[in-house]
Amino acid sequence: MSKASYFIRKATKQDAAFIWQLIWRVGINPLGLDWRRFVVAVHEHGVRIGCAQVKSHKDGSLELASVAVVPLYRHQGVAETMIREILKDHNPPIYLTCRGSLVSFYERFGFSELFELETMPAYFRRVKRVFTWLEKRKWVERLAVMVWNGE
Ligand SMILES: CC(C)(COP(=O)(O)OP(=O)(O)OC[C@H]1O[C@@H](n2cnc3c(N)ncnc32)[C@H](O)[C@@H]1OP(=O)(O)O)[C@@H](O)C(=O)NCCC(=O)NCCS
Repeated sequence: MSKASYFIRKATKQDAAFIWQLIWRVGINPLGLDWRRFVVAVHEHGVRIGCAQVKSHKDGSLELASVAVVPLYRHQGVAETMIREILKDHNPPIYLTCRGSLVSFYERFGFSELFELETMPAYFRRVKRVFTWLEKRKWVERLAVMVWNGE
């Protein structure tokens, strides 16, 4: 398959259904999917192929979230391009949560894993506590909390 040619743009209201469907299809957190915070990746043929957002939490922290790419277009740098675009437009720190297997993927952008609850904003502390409880029962894969402090 040849490499996809695509561009990244801010989402519009017309992207809301695409975002919602893609997030449900890939099975990641379906809460807080306001299109206003999203960017979408668009194939040169006009088809939408990925999305990502920055969420803000009540504790003031920012979260890189909802990073998802349509299966047919994966492994071609679409997620990487969306993430680099988002980091260019935001000031650190930016946090994220991901499965343990994706830690090395996010390290390439300068994210590093946090291990101590005290170093996490309140929202991430709560999520980490819940997942630690679930992990101990082997109900979920390990959840990592990571932070980007700028490069
Ligand atoms: C994770 C995801 C966004 C990556 O999108 P992508 O456009 O294929 O990513 P890129 O092409 O920029 O980078 C690919 C690299 O990411 C890493 N990667 C992708 N999926 C991975 C996975 N499931 N486990 C571990 N590493 C993974 C690999 O290093 C991969 O390198 P490779 O192409 O040489 O194999 C995509 O697989 C996806 O939508 N997954 C389902 C939703 C999801 O899990 N999102 C992340 C939430 S934290």
